[in-house]
Amino acid sequence: MLASTKSFAKDVLPSAFVRQVQKFLFLIATHRLREFDLHLNFPDRHVLEDIIIPYFVKREEYNKILFVGCDWYTRAYKKYFKKKNYWTIEIDKEKRKYGAKKHISDSVEKLSDYVDHNYFDLIFCTGVFGHGMNSRETTEKAINQCFQCLREGGILVFSWNDIPERKPFSVTQECQSLKKFNSYFFTPLSSHQYTVNDEMRHTFVFYIKPQLK
Ligand SMILES: C[S@@+](CC[C@H](N)C(=O)[O-])C[C@H]1O[C@@H](n2cnc3c(N)ncnc32)[C@H](O)[C@@H]1O
Repeated sequence: MLASTKSFAKDVLPSAFVRQVQKFLFLIATHRLREFDLHLNFPDRHVLEDIIIPYFVKREEYNKILFVGCDWYTRAYKKYFKKKNYWTIEIDKEKRKYGAKKHISDSVEKLSDYVDHNYFDLIFCTGVFGHGMNSRETTEKAINQCFQCLREGGILVFSWNDIPERKPFSVTQECQSLKKFNSYFFTPLSSHQYTVNDEMRHTFVFYIKPQLK
């Protein structure tokens, strides 16, 4: 019934109109309104926005926060972090408008050109690996910069889509810079690693910078 209605609509209605309707339906399915802001409506976003971010926002020890990579759907994150010292860094200069007041237009591989070592309490590097941060060299440099710019006891939240099309290599096993961190048990998800159970297999891993002598 649904299939025949669809094909009837395609045959009878102008194709430009059908495309607009399809676009609109796609928009409704993939977006959600929160207060007056548009957010992505994917299961991994719910984990990030409803579980991970609120956990750290509530804790005073996480004040200096960096979010790596931004886009239209992270524009509202400055509201989550309004009581924090919130920074963003994004390689694409056009996306400055989605970032924090303290925004760095550059690649995360150059982070320490802008902030001191041991500066941040918390760094989110979510969805960047496999979306620009692809080569081993770039990934090593980027993670090493995160390590240097986090304080001892600081947390790195690292995530990617764990599917062959989006995973340049087995990052948690092969990235040497990640091995400098210890695993951090993230209580709300009862683990140091959590994979969202959908086709994108978005995987969050939590790391803590150990005490150095
Ligand atoms: C899929 S988006 C994810 C955005 C955001 N991190 C999030 O989780 O919502 C990836 C973004 O990372 C940016 N990006 C890619 N490589 C980068 C790098 N080396 N340094 C900073 N930003 C980078 C891209 O330009 C893009 O805007």
